[in-house]
Amino acid sequence: MKAKYNKVKDTENKENLNEIKENNEITNKSKSKLIALKILIVIAVIALLTVFVYYNNTHLVITEYDYTNAKLPESIDGYCIVQISDLHNAKFGKDNEKLLEKIRICSPDIIVITGDMVDCSGHTNIPIALSFASAATDICPVYYITGNHEYYLSEEQRNTFLSGLMASGVIILNSESIELVEGVRLIGLDDNDLFHDFSNLIATEEFNIVLAHEPQRIKNYASSNADLVFSGHAHGGQIRLPIIGGLAAPDQGFNPEYSEGLIHYNNTDMIISRGLGNSAFPFRIFNYPEIVCVRFTK
Ligand SMILES: [Fe+2]
Repeated sequence: MKAKYNKVKDTENKENLNEIKENNEITNKSKSKLIALKILIVIAVIALLTVFVYYNNTHLVITEYDYTNAKLPESIDGYCIVQISDLHNAKFGKDNEKLLEKIRICSPDIIVITGDMVDCSGHTNIPIALSFASAATDICPVYYITGNHEYYLSEEQRNTFLSGLMASGVIILNSESIELVEGVRLIGLDDNDLFHDFSNLIATEEFNIVLAHEPQRIKNYASSNADLVFSGHAHGGQIRLPIIGGLAAPDQGFNPEYSEGLIHYNNTDMIISRGLGNSAFPFRIFNYPEIVCVRFTK
C-alpha cells in the first residue's frame, strides 16, 4: 500500500517538475523577447537621433534679407551680397558642391566670407577651405576677413592659407576699405582689430558696409560709424529653442544676446549669420547651416 502511495507521489512530483520546467522555459523565452525588443528600441532611437542630428547639421538654408536704408545710394539698388561665415572646415557634398549650388541660386554680385573658414579644434583642413574659396571665385568676386580660428593656426599654416586664398583670387580685407559701388564702401576688419576704433576707414558721406567676425563688439562698430555690419562667430547659439533662442555662443556664454538675425544698435544695423560649420561643440540643433543673401533696395 505504502509502495503504491510512493509511486503516486513520484508521478505527481515528476509532473510538477515538468510544469515548473515548462514555466521556466516560457519565462526565459519571454525575457529573451523583452531584451530583444529593448535592444531594437535602443537601436531605433539611436538611428533616429543620428538621422535627426545629421539633418540638422547638413540641411543648408538660405536666409534672404531685403535691406533698405535711407543712406543707401541709387548705385546699390538691386545689388546682392551673399555672406558665408564660420565654415569651420565643413563640407556640403563633394567639394562643397551643394553649398556652391545654393550660392549660385542667389546670383550674388559679391560673396563676403566673414571668418573661421578653417577650424582649429581637431579637424583643421586647409585644402578643403581653399578648394571652396577657389570655386567661389568662379561665381563672383569674393572678399574675406579673418576669424579667431585663423589666428589659432600656426604662423606657417596661416601664411599657407592666406597665400592660397590670394592665389585663388580671393580679396583679403586686412582692416582696409575699398569702394564697392559709387557711394558705398566695403570695410573688412582683421579679427585682431575688432576692439579698435576704425572710424578712419569710414567715409561718413557714403554708406559703409563692415565685415567683422565677432558680433559682441557691436558697440565698437556703432561708435566707429558703421552703417551695416556682416558678422558671424556665434553659430546661432548652437542649439536654438523656441522663446529662448540660441543657447550659448563663444565669448558671450549662455543665452547670448547676439546670435543671429538682423539687429539694430543706435545708427548701426548688423546681420549675424548662424554660420555653416561647427567647432569644439560638434553639432547644432534646430539651427540649420545658413547662407545669408542680402538684396539692397534704395
Ligand atoms: Fe569665430
